[in-house]
Amino acid sequence: MATPTLEKNGTAEAGFADTPYITATFRIRRFNPEVSDEAQWQDFQISIDPKERVLDALHKIKWELDGTLTFRRSCAHGICGSDAMRINGKNRLACKTLIKDINPEKPILIEAIKGLTVLKDLVVDMDPFFQAYRDVMPFLITKGNEPTRERLQSPEDRERFDDTTKCILCAACTSSCPVFWNDGQYFGPAAIVNAHRFIFDSRDEGGEQRLEILNDRDGVWRCRTTFNCTDACPRGIEVTKAIQEVKRALITRRF
Ligand code: SF4
Ligand code: FES
Repeated sequence: MATPTLEKNGTAEAGFADTPYITATFRIRRFNPEVSDEAQWQDFQISIDPKERVLDALHKIKWELDGTLTFRRSCAHGICGSDAMRINGKNRLACKTLIKDINPEKPILIEAIKGLTVLKDLVVDMDPFFQAYRDVMPFLITKGNEPTRERLQSPEDRERFDDTTKCILCAACTSSCPVFWNDGQYFGPAAIVNAHRFIFDSRDEGGEQRLEILNDRDGVWRCRTTFNCTDACPRGIEVTKAIQEVKRALITRRF
């Protein structure tokens, strides 16, 4: 099959006279269960400013070369977590990855994240991921009567779980974890991060319940401390550290 190609005239678009366009090849792992049971790599050549992002390249390909290319995205600014994918073998957000940072002189490999069933092209079934999230009860649990004023917290107490509040549920961590690849029953790093966010919140009273859930055979003890999750997190969350803190809380029952 001929490689679909998109040329741009000259080296710049109007208004960006000094913008150097390059021709880059995007090698995308395509899968459409209505056409074939097998996934196939397909090359697309486009002319693009290397300061643009992988998401911009995917848009160009979809809008100008092949409208059947399927991927998720929403905010385009690293907030919604919907465009996690493997880019040159590493889990990243397409909207946060600049083309110039991933060696555009070679074909840029784009594929779906691992460990979740691929539905089409770069779209995976996120249901097991969100089920694990729901299972750890990611909401404030309190006992007694409704307070008549805010639930106060010291800056030090807030600091204990500050890192894990940053999660955007992109699944980059969970889908980079070899334990999760081998056994999709494992809760996975993202669910543990979101349990951590409430276990260490001084206003919450559901910590014991969450710890018991994570003490399960598919819980925190499955973690092998490979640090893939920490490396993959686009929010810079110290995922492995959070998992270690939950393990420690399970042993000491202090949190
Ligand atoms: S911990 Fe990081 S990588 Fe994992 S789901 Fe949250 S934001 Fe994504
Ligand atoms: S599109 Fe929302 S995080 Fe990338």
